[in-house]
Amino acid sequence: MDKFVINGPCKLSGSVETNGAKNAVLPLMAASLLARGECVIKNVPNLRDVATMTRLLEILGAGVAFKNHVLTIDTSKLTCLEAPYDLVRTMRASIYVMGPLVAAHKKARVSQPGGCAWGPRPIDLHIMALERLGAKVALEHGYINASAKRLRGAEIIFPVSSVGATAQTLMAAVLAKGETTLKNCALEPEVVELAKALNKAGAKIQGVGDRTMTITGVDAIEPFTHRVMPDRIEAGTFAAAAVATAGRVKITKCDPSNLSAVLDALTVCGADIEIGEDSIDVQGPDRVEPAHVVTREYPGFPTDMQAQMMAVLCRAKGTSTVKDTIYTDRFTHVPELRRLAASIRLDGNLAVIHGVKGLEGAPVMATDIRASSALIIAALMAKGRTDILRVYHIDRGYEKIERKLRRLGADIKRMPQ
Ligand code: UD1
Repeated sequence: MDKFVINGPCKLSGSVETNGAKNAVLPLMAASLLARGECVIKNVPNLRDVATMTRLLEILGAGVAFKNHVLTIDTSKLTCLEAPYDLVRTMRASIYVMGPLVAAHKKARVSQPGGCAWGPRPIDLHIMALERLGAKVALEHGYINASAKRLRGAEIIFPVSSVGATAQTLMAAVLAKGETTLKNCALEPEVVELAKALNKAGAKIQGVGDRTMTITGVDAIEPFTHRVMPDRIEAGTFAAAAVATAGRVKITKCDPSNLSAVLDALTVCGADIEIGEDSIDVQGPDRVEPAHVVTREYPGFPTDMQAQMMAVLCRAKGTSTVKDTIYTDRFTHVPELRRLAASIRLDGNLAVIHGVKGLEGAPVMATDIRASSALIIAALMAKGRTDILRVYHIDRGYEKIERKLRRLGADIKRMPQ
C-alpha cells in the first residue's frame, strides 16, 4: 500500500491534461457485453477501476487488451455469467454487467454491492427496472440472480434521477422486445455518452439527453468503437486545486461545457476563469471568498466535486456552506480536513466551514476517491508535511495525479506506507 507525502504550501502553476472519464468508460465496458465481437474504446484512463472492470470482463470470458489508453474487448466467447463478491465489493460499478448479461445472455448472477464509505447506496431502482422489463430477479445468499428469455419493453418511471439505474436500464432495454419508455432519466453527460455509443452500435434510443428516453428494442447490438469523453471531475479537481493554492493552471483536453456549475462556484470564490474550446485557464485569488454550494443532479453542482470544493473553502475569508442533497452522508473527509486544522461543523447534510488563515500539515487517511483528492488539495494549502495514507482510493479515479501535480510545481511523493 502506498501513501502520498506532500510538503506545502505551494502555488500550482502550468498546464495539465485531462484523461478520459472514469464514469463514462465503466458503463461502456459493460455495454461491450451486449455485442458479440471486438469493441474498441479509446481515450481510456489507466485507473484501478478500469483494471477491476477488466478483471470482471475476463472472468466472464472476454478477451481484453489495454495499450496506450486503448481498450480492446472481445466478447465473442463468454464462459461465465457471474460477477463475484470480491470484485463487486471493491467497485460498485461492477453491477453494470447485470443488465447487458440478462439482455444478451438471458441471465446474470451479480453480488449485491452492500454499503460504501458514505452510506447505504441502494440499487433498488436497478432491480425495479429489470423486473419491469420482465426479468425474474431473486436475492439469494448475497447475490442477485436475474433471468429472462427475452426482456420486453415497458414504461419505467424513476422516482429519483439515478445515473446508475438509467445506464443499467438503457443497456437492458436496447435488446428488449418492443418499446421502452424511461422517465426521469439522469442527464449526466456520461449517461448521454453511453446512449450515443449504443445508438452507434445499432440501438434505437430516442430522446438522448432528455429526461424521457424511448427505446425501440433491436435484435442485436454490433461491436462498437468509441472515444471516451474527458473526465469532468478530474478537470474540476485541478481547477479547485488551482483556486485553493492561489495558482494559475491551464487545464487542457477537457470539455468546459459540462463544468459550468463547478466553474460558477469557483468564480464566486474569486477565481478568474477563461474558457477555451477544450481548455480552462484558472487563476486563483490571493484569498478565497466564501461560497454556498448545494449538490444537485446534472447540470447542478456535482456531488463528486463536493469534497474538493469544501477543501477550497477551508481557507476562505469567512463562513461558507456545502450541502449534499445527493449523498447526504458523504462527509468522511470532514474529520480528516479537521486534522489539517480546518474548522468545519456538520449539521446533517450541511457542512458549515469557517475559513481559517492557514492549514497545518498532519497525517490523514484517504477514505474514498473524491475525499482523497480533497485531502490532496488541503495538503497543498497546508504548511508543513502531510502524509495521506491509503492512496489506492485515489488510484481508482485519477491517473498519475502525483506526476501531474509535480509538473505543476507541487512537492508530492508516492512512498510505500
Ligand atoms: C454515479 C457515479 C458517482 C456519482 C453519482 C452521483 C459512477 C460509476 N458513479 O453513482 O461517482 O457520485 O453517480 O452523480 O458513475 N439511488 C436509489 N436507488 C438506486 C440507485 C440510486 O435510491 O437504485 C439514489 C442514491 O442513493 C442517490 C441518488 O439515487 O441518492 C443518485 O445516485 P446514482 O446517480 O444512482 O449514483 P451512482 O450511479 O451509484
